[in-house]
Amino acid sequence: MSPDSIHKGSPAWVSNSKGKRHMAQTKHWEPLQSFLEILTGLFSVEVVVIDAHCICVAGTGPYKLGIGLAAPKDTRLAESIHSGVQTVMLRPREEGTCLHCSQNAQCKDQANYTAPLLLEGRIAGAVQIVTFDQGQRMALLECAERAFMLVRQLVDLLHRTGALPLETRAENAEGRNSLDALVGHSLALATLKEHIIRVAPTTAPVLLFGESGTGKELAAQAIHTNSACAAGPFVPINCGALPEALMESELFGYAAGAFSGANAAGKQGLWEQAAGGTLFLDEIGELPMLLQVKLLRILQDGMVRKVGDAKLTHVPTRIIAATNKDLRHMVRQGSFREDLYFRLNVMPLYLAPLRERKEDIRPLIMHFITRECRAVGSHTVVVDPVLMAKFMEYHWPGNVRELKNFMEYGIAFSKNGRITWEDLAPRFETPYDLLPQEGTPVQTPQHQPRSGITTTMVQAMLVKHGKSVPGKRAAAKELGISLATLYRIMAQKGK
Ligand SMILES: Nc1ncnc2c1ncn2[C@@H]1O[C@H](COP(=O)(O)OP(=O)(O)O)[C@@H](O)[C@H]1O
Ligand SMILES: [Mg+2]
Repeated sequence: MSPDSIHKGSPAWVSNSKGKRHMAQTKHWEPLQSFLEILTGLFSVEVVVIDAHCICVAGTGPYKLGIGLAAPKDTRLAESIHSGVQTVMLRPREEGTCLHCSQNAQCKDQANYTAPLLLEGRIAGAVQIVTFDQGQRMALLECAERAFMLVRQLVDLLHRTGALPLETRAENAEGRNSLDALVGHSLALATLKEHIIRVAPTTAPVLLFGESGTGKELAAQAIHTNSACAAGPFVPINCGALPEALMESELFGYAAGAFSGANAAGKQGLWEQAAGGTLFLDEIGELPMLLQVKLLRILQDGMVRKVGDAKLTHVPTRIIAATNKDLRHMVRQGSFREDLYFRLNVMPLYLAPLRERKEDIRPLIMHFITRECRAVGSHTVVVDPVLMAKFMEYHWPGNVRELKNFMEYGIAFSKNGRITWEDLAPRFETPYDLLPQEGTPVQTPQHQPRSGITTTMVQAMLVKHGKSVPGKRAAAKELGISLATLYRIMAQKGK
């Protein structure tokens, strides 16, 4: 490409020689420049990269002239920093946001691909891959994603080696904090955050699935605070906690004089309370069939009908649902409607169990210690290495919630600033398949359980619930101890 044709392709902001250049901000990105030149040669496309503040930090062809300059906020490139959305434009200038772009008249793009760059789950910049050659439009479609992945991997590498510090945009601090609330270093969590950023700006329903205590509600909040309806309310409903008889009127409200004993003025439902915001339907698998039908209709047209009301009202609300159940299995069994499942499952996000992302345990422990010690005003504590090793081996049936509870208990009972294995041992659950069968002697641990539960109390509960394994489970639950502790106490009796 001759320098002339290079210049012809450049949008006004790039060829604006009077624009203020922010060269200090581009320094950390320098290694990217020579890499982009190679990429351009390989794929015959031009590439431009901006940082989180929309400063052009690297670019090929005409964009090389733009290094240090700010890309206008209304360009698709800068917009992807705010929306987190990845786009492909085959008719630039003629579609969507391009119509209002200040660069529209000068833009020579024939096709472009734009995507945000994420580091540690936060938007650290954006990349645009462009062709100015009409004959290259389809070729761009084919190579853009691969070219983007290469840029992304290099940026990630630069960040990991410490060459590129993470700088995210200063605005939307609330949204950023909500993602920061999800603590952990695992790849699974980083991927989840990336998916949150991607689904948040859309209006489609999101289905969060994963075991109990994995952070589904935190994820729902993060989606809300990063969405276009962040200024609206976030209304969580636990579908498993509402009595079936009340559920409909709680969800949708009721009209004035709907039934005897009802408030004369009628009642606003939770749905209406979430208008302009997000409705979080937790434990969606518990929703009774009748309400599943109603929910499906609302998802189809956004119209809500109060109990006892003839008219339908449009209530614009983003829906996020969560479940720890296998909804597909429920569909097969006939206890969950298939059409509702497909409606909700537009954007499924999975929260991995803690036992599959043990890299998160240490940062989570640090997080809970810092928070808890600050809350109770105590000195910080450390986790004994033996206990830490047990944490790493444990199967975490209650996931992060269980770890949080362990830490709160551990901090309360710690001695000399240490939480030890002895402090927490009674709280560890034995994996169900490792539990002793009826009549098998249980080894008594060296230390005694500190639950304060006596053998007489256990016996009384076993009379009530029966001595089968489910009976013992129920007994342990009622006594507020783990099943393993219950077995230990029973074993002492035989001594
Ligand atoms: N990644 C995480 N970082 C910090 N706290 C977490 C994380 N995941 C879960 N928690 C905490 O664990 C508890 C359970 O999380 P929650 O979102 O209610 O799980 P779920 O809805 O999947 O049962 C909450 O106190 C939450 O704050
Ligand atoms: Mg929950």
